[in-house]
Amino acid sequence: MIQKSFVMMKPDAVQRRLMGKILSRFEEKGLQIVAVKLMQINEDLAKTHYGEHADKPFFGSLIEYITSSPSLAMVIEGEEAISTIRKLVGATNPLEADLGTIRGDFAMDTGRNIIHASDSPDSAEREINLFFNEDEICDYEIVD
Ligand code: CMP
Repeated sequence: MIQKSFVMMKPDAVQRRLMGKILSRFEEKGLQIVAVKLMQINEDLAKTHYGEHADKPFFGSLIEYITSSPSLAMVIEGEEAISTIRKLVGATNPLEADLGTIRGDFAMDTGRNIIHASDSPDSAEREINLFFNEDEICDYEIVD
């Protein structure tokens, strides 16, 4: 089934100039980028996005980190996009993420794991609507 997923390169991906390399992983896999926005996430949006972690001990540092510098928010579309992207991204803890995945190749620390990707169709819908208006998402065909 064709799905859309919400993907966000976090501040350290931007700071470390990894945006192009990471974007290429999704394009080379055959997924389609349908929306991209470089944005400085404010505290309200960060707290809404990560609301399910509000009672976790790392919540404060997570919000501080996500709001510290711009992030690259994206909507990526493709066949089984949500699970395919989670596989490309790798485990939350980069030390447990397989080599060859984005976190496995580019990160060392769970608190700075460089990228977020929706974990289910429900969270994809919620997160896409939180970060994008409908008219910011492109509907187009790749012509080979
Ligand atoms: P993400 O996939 O964006 O979803 C929740 C985020 O919380 C996660 O990536 C990490 O950045 C962060 N996180 C999860 N567990 C921990 C932890 N134990 N310590 C610090 N940050 C964490």
